[in-house]
Amino acid sequence: MQRKNRLIALAVILPAVAAGYGLAISIADDQPRRGKEGGGVEHLMERTHEGRKSPLGQTKGQLGAAAPDWNVIDKQIEAFQAMSRALSESRKAAIKDAADGYADAVKDLTAAAKKRDAAAARAALKALTNSCTDCHYKGGPGGRLDDD
Ligand code: HEC
Repeated sequence: MQRKNRLIALAVILPAVAAGYGLAISIADDQPRRGKEGGGVEHLMERTHEGRKSPLGQTKGQLGAAAPDWNVIDKQIEAFQAMSRALSESRKAAIKDAADGYADAVKDLTAAAKKRDAAAARAALKALTNSCTDCHYKGGPGGRLDDD
């Protein structure tokens, strides 16, 4: 290739590469790694709440017993905290703005578990369960849940 042709080729290729790079960045920005609603909320929702073996299921089971196994509860609380963060940090305003009830209940549950206070933990679990409606009914961003 002659020098002049080489320069022309560069002049054509460089902007194309730069444009491609810019496009890749804007796509990555529009579709963050963790989920379509921008925080992995849907995935975490299912994993945290669905079924008896989920963190919610296990916590309900323990707090329904006369002598809860606090080590099990401590472990599940980590999942609630991750869920709470995903809601509070969601890029969707409708989710973020409705996250307070859930976040407060998780804080209360954490404090109650630290004190090994079963009555307070049961109350916090009730608040946590009530907070689902902040998003899942009344036209909230979570949509209606088909099971409990
Ligand atoms: C701050 C908002 C918010 C709160 C509070 C909330 N969710 Fe969700 N939830 C969502 C969003 C958003 C989705 C994803 C919906 C979608 O992608 O269509 C979701 C999805 C789900 C899903 C999976 C999808 C489905 O329809 O089956 C389950 C199960 C679920 N949530 C259960 C719960 C439970 C149980 C609680 C309370 C302990 C709760 N959620 C509290 C926002 C919330």
